[in-house]
Amino acid sequence: MAKEPCDLLVRSAAELLTMDAGPAAGPLRGEALREPGMLADGAIAVTGGRIAAVGRTADLRDRFAPREEIDATGRVVMPGFVDPHTHLVFGRTREDEFEMRCLGMSYEEIAAAGGGIRASARRFRALSRDAILSQARALRASALRHGSTTVEVKSGYGLSTESEVLSLEIAREIDADGDVVPTFLGAHEVPDEWRHDRAGYVRLVIDEMLPRVAARGLARFCDVFCEAHVFTPDETRAISLAAKRLGLGVKLHADELAGTGGAELAVELGAVSADHLMAVSDAGIAALAGSETVAVLLPGTSFFLGMKRFAPARRMIEAGVAVALATDCNPGSSYTESPQQVATLACVGLGLRPVEALAAFTRNAACAVGLGHDRGRLAPGYRADLVVLDVPNHRHVAYHHGVNHASCVVRNGGTVRGPDLPDRRACG
Ligand code: NIG
Ligand code: FE
Repeated sequence: MAKEPCDLLVRSAAELLTMDAGPAAGPLRGEALREPGMLADGAIAVTGGRIAAVGRTADLRDRFAPREEIDATGRVVMPGFVDPHTHLVFGRTREDEFEMRCLGMSYEEIAAAGGGIRASARRFRALSRDAILSQARALRASALRHGSTTVEVKSGYGLSTESEVLSLEIAREIDADGDVVPTFLGAHEVPDEWRHDRAGYVRLVIDEMLPRVAARGLARFCDVFCEAHVFTPDETRAISLAAKRLGLGVKLHADELAGTGGAELAVELGAVSADHLMAVSDAGIAALAGSETVAVLLPGTSFFLGMKRFAPARRMIEAGVAVALATDCNPGSSYTESPQQVATLACVGLGLRPVEALAAFTRNAACAVGLGHDRGRLAPGYRADLVVLDVPNHRHVAYHHGVNHASCVVRNGGTVRGPDLPDRRACG
């Protein structure tokens, strides 16, 4: 019988993580998170940017005549990472504050002294569009080289109508082919010129920024930094309900530093995700477990802020919460775009198994940006986003840390790096 043509065959993977086991739809919860689907000597056929078939190499070689092949012998193949929480449009970095923190000042002390997000906003507004665009583009490219085929990107360093819109325009500009999920985060902080009138800034977000962003279709989600000294639960509710009325989905920075009932509020609002959750309460965990809201954990932030406390991930998983991971890539509290590094921190800090970390960063992360039907799994019909990692088995992704294992990244069926795979197998 004649073989079917296909664009690409990725073959001979030592381990192919499908993330397609368990329930047909939605995220993996509880014990299912540790059995996301794994094939030895696995292969994937790709056509028209979509996955045509997943199976054993011998079977797919019998069935397909590929135009291009990637030999993944001795390596791991998995869905591209989905990074469901980043702030990667910021313009300027804040290494000065990093040094202050190294010397003992806390993140909150720096913010109270006018640093932090407000310092970023001052710098952002002083930069040209081109300067911000090249910063964001370079960071997006680096994230892709580390295997993140989809990234959620928040605004939130402009904090004026004009600069928040600019931020989302830049997020759109760095989107190659639907790989950037834009989120409006005008309520990231109260900027300098509104410190005397918080209510006025909340009104500006609701009455001016949100309608403008929604009218131009610049964002898919609206996020609010719901935290003591930032936005209260009532302010968060008002902003989120306004966003919903305009057709945006809701995300929340919830219970990051102090517990304010952010997780419960996220569930009440039907948020697609509640993020951070280092200080989540038992009631918050119970509310999340009984909902579709995904808990996005950001251990890079706990680590980078030198906190003793990480989110109670094991309790959440045991309770049945859908747990995802993200880098939180931003210039203040987590300056890394590497999902692999964050997977290490998830294992060491949150107590996830290596395989749980990878499932949380793919299938569950896709659900956290409303793309669980299209990304985060290697299954027929899903978008052909995948990464070939130069490691002998999946545990090495988190275990051998601080280096980039991605040797080939396929996004929407197109190879963006490789297929010349460097040979580092001697390390394994
Ligand atoms: O997710 N929590 C709010 N925003 C960021 C920090 C932003 C910054 O410090 O620039 C975060 O941790
Ligand atoms: Fe964040």
